[in-house]
Amino acid sequence: MKAYNAEKTCWNCPAAVFKGNVDFRACGQSMEDIKSVEEGLIVIECSRRPELGHFEPSITFDECPEWIPFQYGLMLKDMRVMILGIDGYLGWTLALKLGKLGFKVSGIDNFLRRDCVMEKGAHTIVPIERMTERLHAAREVLGVNINFRRIDILDRSTLKEFLEEVKPEAIVHYAEIPSAPYSMVDCSHAIRVQENNVLGTLGLLFLIKEVVPETCLIKLGTMGEYGSPLTGRPLYEGIFPADAVMKWDDREWSLGGELTPRDPVSFYHVSKVQDTFNVYEACKYWWLRSYDVMQGVIYGVHTDEVAEDSRLRTRLDIDEWFGTVVNRFVAQAIMGMPLTIYGTGEQIRGFIALEDAMECMVRLIISPPEPGQYDVVNQVSGLHKLSVLAETVAEAGEKAGLDVKIQKVENPRVEADKHPLEVVSKKLPHTFGFEPKVPLEKEISRMIDVMMQPEIKRRIEEKAHLVMPRTRWDGFKKESDVLEVYEPGTREDTGYTPVLDR
Ligand SMILES: NC(=O)c1ccc[n+]([C@@H]2O[C@H](COP(=O)([O-])OP(=O)(O)OC[C@H]3O[C@@H](n4cnc5c(N)ncnc54)[C@H](O)[C@@H]3O)[C@@H](O)[C@H]2O)c1
Repeated sequence: MKAYNAEKTCWNCPAAVFKGNVDFRACGQSMEDIKSVEEGLIVIECSRRPELGHFEPSITFDECPEWIPFQYGLMLKDMRVMILGIDGYLGWTLALKLGKLGFKVSGIDNFLRRDCVMEKGAHTIVPIERMTERLHAAREVLGVNINFRRIDILDRSTLKEFLEEVKPEAIVHYAEIPSAPYSMVDCSHAIRVQENNVLGTLGLLFLIKEVVPETCLIKLGTMGEYGSPLTGRPLYEGIFPADAVMKWDDREWSLGGELTPRDPVSFYHVSKVQDTFNVYEACKYWWLRSYDVMQGVIYGVHTDEVAEDSRLRTRLDIDEWFGTVVNRFVAQAIMGMPLTIYGTGEQIRGFIALEDAMECMVRLIISPPEPGQYDVVNQVSGLHKLSVLAETVAEAGEKAGLDVKIQKVENPRVEADKHPLEVVSKKLPHTFGFEPKVPLEKEISRMIDVMMQPEIKRRIEEKAHLVMPRTRWDGFKKESDVLEVYEPGTREDTGYTPVLDR
């Protein structure tokens, strides 16, 4: 069977440098205009095979000796991938996976995440090593060499030098502050998040234009950019499908190709929406190419690479600023604290396991868009109502001998806590050949096993006081009141049923 990316051509390949008579950097030309110009007009040079001279960009990946088969399709030999935010939960995990697969991995980080967690007085409950030790262990255990620099993405001149040195063929951009509560603490936290995230990404776009315009930027957004429309309108993949129409006042218009509405749910999520527009514009103005990944909430601790040695583990946070919900529920189950659901707990969110999310990223990296193409994927493998999720964690906890309860607490956020949710996530399975492999229950059990280890259990208990929400969207600083504590399995599943269109 042909690889899903076999039919892509030099148009998609980051090694192809355009040399034709068309000014690709000019505004206002559509891809169709450019492709339809007289045959023979557009030529490229291959940076990997200069001996071919100038030629039309029509060689498919499966015809090109630079693209070689591997377990996920075809990969560009020794493809250079730079990960921004490589010290983070996802960045470190992806670095090891790519390195093990034979990619040439480089990355930057300024350790801001470590600083912010320290500011809270928290720590990652899975202990992680300093970067020098991480790099050493990656080399020793996996044979993976990572070219790391301590650089702040906002320090554009240093980042530019590193981009010039590495010339990455794909850039994965994780280097943002990823916490909604952190952005809602007060004015200075809100500004810090928006400055770091929005200006970091904007500066990066200018550097890509200048140094590596052929690279593919894989930018992390979040499903929270869309919000959860009370009308139940499906959350398409960032852009309305060709047959979507708007009707008003007895008239009708096509919406096909337009960006869908965004309704962010915190100042952090606003920073992601702002990024979306900046990336979209840069693709339009300068023929950059990007996948904007609307990622669901990630959970889990496992990939084959991080499990290989304790020095290779990735971080896991459970405090109210940086802990994501499944990770927090499991920690609560282990320390005997009732699982905290906010308000009614009928909020529905998109989720994906760490291991599956990493596979998605590999698949996107090896199947770049065309120059000028901005595309969005919704990266979720399941939708879960938070109250049902708590039941699932409770069940897994009980199987492991834990006595688990659930508590409803006053919702510190301003959000609809009862809403329909229909999410479209068709591109990853149908265009990129991704099938989720990790059922929720399986990853929860793996997490329980890891988090029951005495050292990790002790680290959870040490920070138990930082788990209850205190950061409220209304600006008051107070711990949420407990509304009710109940036994798992004693409540009806009420409210809306989530719909995932795959
Ligand atoms: N983890 C999730 O559930 C989730 C869900 C949706 C989207 N995302 C997005 O995915 C990305 C990665 O998330 P994560 O969970 O790995 O977060 P993380 O905080 O663990 O990783 C981000 C890394 O970027 C670094 N960083 C931040 N600002 C930087 C700067 N100015 N210069 C250099 N490095 C900088 C941090 O130090 C950190 O190591 C984020 O953009 C986040 O918004 C995460």
